[in-house]
Amino acid sequence: MTVEWEKLFAGRVGGMSASEIRELLKLIAKPEIISFAGGIPDPDLFPAPALSRAYQKVFESNSGPGDALQYTISEGYTPLREWICAYMESKGARIAMDEVLVTSGSQQALDFLGKLFIGPGDLVAVTKPTYLGALQAFSPYEPTYVSIAMDDQGPVLDEVDTALARKPKFLYLVPDFQNPNGITVSLDRRIAIIERCAAAGVAVIEDAAYAELRYDGDSIPSMVALDAERNGGSPATVIHCGSFSKTMVPALRVGWVCGAKDAVQRMVLMKQAADLHTSTINQVVMHDVVSEIFQGHVRRLRDAYKQRRDAMLTALADFAPPGVTWTKPEGGMFVWVELPEGSDGVALLERAIKEANVAFVPGAAFYADRSGKNTLRLAFSVNKPERIREGIRRLCGLLGQGAV
Ligand SMILES: Cc1ncc(COP(=O)(O)O)c(C=O)c1O
Repeated sequence: MTVEWEKLFAGRVGGMSASEIRELLKLIAKPEIISFAGGIPDPDLFPAPALSRAYQKVFESNSGPGDALQYTISEGYTPLREWICAYMESKGARIAMDEVLVTSGSQQALDFLGKLFIGPGDLVAVTKPTYLGALQAFSPYEPTYVSIAMDDQGPVLDEVDTALARKPKFLYLVPDFQNPNGITVSLDRRIAIIERCAAAGVAVIEDAAYAELRYDGDSIPSMVALDAERNGGSPATVIHCGSFSKTMVPALRVGWVCGAKDAVQRMVLMKQAADLHTSTINQVVMHDVVSEIFQGHVRRLRDAYKQRRDAMLTALADFAPPGVTWTKPEGGMFVWVELPEGSDGVALLERAIKEANVAFVPGAAFYADRSGKNTLRLAFSVNKPERIREGIRRLCGLLGQGAV
C-alpha cells in the first residue's frame, strides 16, 4: 500500500497554489533578461556595513552573545518593540507595548490575521487588484472574497458600501503605493473607509509595507493614525502591519503587527504555536541598525528609487503605443499598465521573454476573481535607470507590433 498524499491533505490545501511570481522568477534568472517581475528591493542598496557591525557587536560584547542566541519572548525583543512604539507614535498612533507583536516578516502577520478572523466561507473584502501574498495567506482559511474596484483615489466608496453590507470580517488594503498597482489611497478616502468600517463593525487591515518609500507629493497619515485620532489616541478599528523588508533588508524576516490589544494578544498565542518567536539575534541586530541609520538610509532609498520610477515613467511616455495606459505612483516599487480590453498579459509575457528578453508579472494574479487579464505589473526597484529604459523600449516595441 502506498500513501495517496492528495487524499490525506486537508480540504483547505485546495485553496493554496504556488505563487505565479515565484514560479516565474525561477525562469527568468538569465542575465540577458531585463526583469520587471520581482517586487524586491535592490541588494546594492542594502545597509550591509551597518548590519555587519551590528552582528559583530553581538559577538564581541562583554557579556557575550548568549542572550542574542537564546530563545526570547513571543511578543518580540523588548527594545525593538519600544522602537516600533516610538516610530508609530511619531506617525500619530499611540501603540502600547502589549498592542504590538514582532512577526517573521509582515507576511507572517497576514497569515495570523487569516487564522484569527477567517473560518470556511467567511467573507473577506479585498481591493481589485490586491497583494497576491495576502490572497495566499488568507486563502488556506477558506474565505469567500468580496473584491472592491479602485480608482486613482483608492477603493471606490460605493463598492466599499456594497461589500460592508455583506458583513465581511475585515477589509484588507495596502494604502500606500499599493503592490501591485502603485495607487495611494487619498486622505478623504482613508477617513471615509475607516468611518464606514467602524460603523459596520468591520476591521480594517492596513498593510504599510511601502509607506516609507514616498518620492513626491504630500505624505498622508496612516490609517491606523487616523483611526487613533478619531478614537482619542489609540486605534479601535484598524490593525496595522509594518515591515523592515523594504526599508532595511528582507532576509532578517522582521516585521510587526499592531492595533487593538484583544486581537494582538490572540496573535501572540499564534506566534507561540507557529515559531515561538522571531529570530532573537535578527531582532537584536535590526534594533541596533534601525536605531542608528533608519532615517538616513530611507532617504538614500528614496533618492535611488525615485530615479528608477522616473526612468520608467519617462520611457513609457516615450515608447508606449496608443491604447496603453499606466499609473503614476508617488512611491513604492510598481507601475501598473493597462492594455486594451481583450489583451492577454500571460500571452504577452510568453512572447516578451522569448522575443524581447523582458519579464513582468501578468496582472490577473493579483485579482481574487482572476479578472484583470489585460493588466501588467512592472517593478522598477531592481534595475538601474538605463536598463529600465531599455526594457520598456523592448516591451513597448512588442506592444507596438500588436503582440496581444
Ligand atoms: C504589500 C506587501 N505586504 C507584505 C509583504 C511581505 O513582506 P515581508 O514579509 O517581507 O515583511 C510584501 C512583500 O512583498 C508586500 O508587497
